[in-house]
Amino acid sequence: MSKLVYYVAATMDGYIATENHELGWLETFTLSDDATPYEKFYQSIGAAIIGAGTYEWIMKNTSGHWPYQNIPSFILSSRNLSIPAEINAVVTHDSANQIAVKAKAAAKGKDVWVIGGGKTAAFFADAGELQQLFITTVPVFLGSGIRVLPVSHSIQAIPNKQQLLSSGAIETIMDIKSTA
Ligand SMILES: NC(=O)c1ccc[n+]([C@@H]2O[C@H](COP(=O)([O-])OP(=O)(O)OC[C@H]3O[C@@H](n4cnc5c(N)ncnc54)[C@H](OP(=O)(O)O)[C@@H]3O)[C@@H](O)[C@H]2O)c1
Repeated sequence: MSKLVYYVAATMDGYIATENHELGWLETFTLSDDATPYEKFYQSIGAAIIGAGTYEWIMKNTSGHWPYQNIPSFILSSRNLSIPAEINAVVTHDSANQIAVKAKAAAKGKDVWVIGGGKTAAFFADAGELQQLFITTVPVFLGSGIRVLPVSHSIQAIPNKQQLLSSGAIETIMDIKSTA
């Protein structure tokens, strides 16, 4: 069954970007060959969910090149965000449940990647719509920044798989305990 997976890289102290939305700490870190290949993960994905903050970061840092063109994306925004017509994405401010239903249908049996950021992933986790976390924890501390999952109430996660990589990063897959 299709699930919503928050696949993300975070620091040891639980941040996914600096307060100024910089990712230099991640871009300069070399993942070792024993890491799960990004391509392997991406092949399991049929749709994506992205917060407006992350969408704007991508557009600014990839010179407008949309990296997920082969899958439909749902961009969360309360604004009338204008996105280029050629991009395979729609802007939505539906409920978490409505977006999850649409994204799973669009994924056609594959999983849905909750790309982030933290606020968007927490919106789905708070609503009981996030099923799995795949966090690559990088051995870096930032002290402050954008939090990985700022939920508004406690969420129980059940460890599924963990791997210490030779680079010092740790891959952790956790299933979120259903509250239903
Ligand atoms: N390390 C990594 O792997 C990784 C992965 C992803 C992102 N990032 C970084 O994370 C940062 C952005 O994360 P973020 O947590 O600040 O923002 P975000 O989740 O990407 O976007 C949050 C924005 O989405 C819109 N939104 C609309 N409805 C929402 C809802 N119900 N819940 C949540 N957001 C809603 C709001 O913008 P409106 O004003 O448009 O309504 C909100 O300000 C960027 O710097 C990005 O580069 C890092």
